[in-house]
Amino acid sequence: MSTAPAIEAIDLVKQFGENRAVDGVSFTVPPGSVLGLLGPNGAGKTTTVRMMTTLSEPTSGTARVAGYDVRDEPDMVRRNMGLTGQVATVDELLTGRENIRMIGGLYGIRRKDLARLEDELLQQFAIADAADRPVRSYSGGMRRRLDLAVSLIASPPVLFLDEPTTGLDPRSRSDLWDMLRHLVAQGTTLLLTTQYLEEADQLADDIVVIDHGRIIAQGTPLQLKEQAGNSSLVVTVSRATDLPAARELLARTGAEVHVDVGARKLTAAADGIADMTRVAGWLQESAIEVDDIGLSRPSLDDVFLSLTGHRAEQQAEVAGA
Ligand SMILES: Nc1ncnc2c1ncn2[C@@H]1O[C@H](COP(=O)(O)OP(=O)(O)OP(=O)(O)O)[C@@H](O)[C@H]1O
Ligand SMILES: [Mg+2]
Repeated sequence: MSTAPAIEAIDLVKQFGENRAVDGVSFTVPPGSVLGLLGPNGAGKTTTVRMMTTLSEPTSGTARVAGYDVRDEPDMVRRNMGLTGQVATVDELLTGRENIRMIGGLYGIRRKDLARLEDELLQQFAIADAADRPVRSYSGGMRRRLDLAVSLIASPPVLFLDEPTTGLDPRSRSDLWDMLRHLVAQGTTLLLTTQYLEEADQLADDIVVIDHGRIIAQGTPLQLKEQAGNSSLVVTVSRATDLPAARELLARTGAEVHVDVGARKLTAAADGIADMTRVAGWLQESAIEVDDIGLSRPSLDDVFLSLTGHRAEQQAEVAGA
């Protein structure tokens, strides 16, 4: 049994003039798994994907897809991968079905097989009803689905998706996630870039976080969350007038207390359930009514924002407002 990685980035570098957009990125993706490549705008996600899919030549380093080197065997790489770019590339003037037929033709799929494949893909991606309408009349979600369908025509074992759900409403997004899970269950290896932490949390087995072209964190969603540290205790008091007293009680745990006056909410780092029960007892003794008390675990958002420093900026904005 082969355990060779389905995708491998080996010290990839891309230099645009003075700008080192990708600065030594390495990772591997085992077959049949999902890697989430996360990062803020301009982090280097698209540039990395372009190098890995033969669209752009690395300044140095290389990548392997399905065992083929992007420098030495670009044709074999292309034959084994599908790509859905950040911007939809389907032809606006053609219908959904015509788009699939055109690309299928380019891949040299026989007419009879192609007719069956068209129906399958249109069905699978829920565009059958709109199959014979020009794409220019499609919604953003329908275009994204057609884009994905088109990238699957040649049933590639490796699929690259650059921000597949950007701009979709929550319902279309979760529909697309289901379709992607289905593909992975059938054995496809997926690399997706995203700015949505929830998307990575939902789909990815492993996450690579990049910023300014470098990897700043790597691990499973759970590992990254654990890395963000302890949970916090969140108390919502019933009456705003109780906030100062409640603040003093929470501070007894030794933690710094953050107060959100508008939401009547207090937040403090906590060691877990022990801290929570102690604070609940004190609140009761002091006859402070609470609407809610609970522990909140760090989300992947907390991890990402603290890693990239964007949270600090946001707080500064709030403080300055
Ligand atoms: N063709 C190019 N020529 C010059 N600079 C480029 C080129 N493509 C990208 N860059 C620069 O490289 C850096 C990384 O861009 P990239 O598009 O890879 O980021 P990204 O992570 O995909 O961002 P986004 O989330 O906005 O899509 C940016 O500073 C960008 O301006
Ligand atoms: Mg991009």
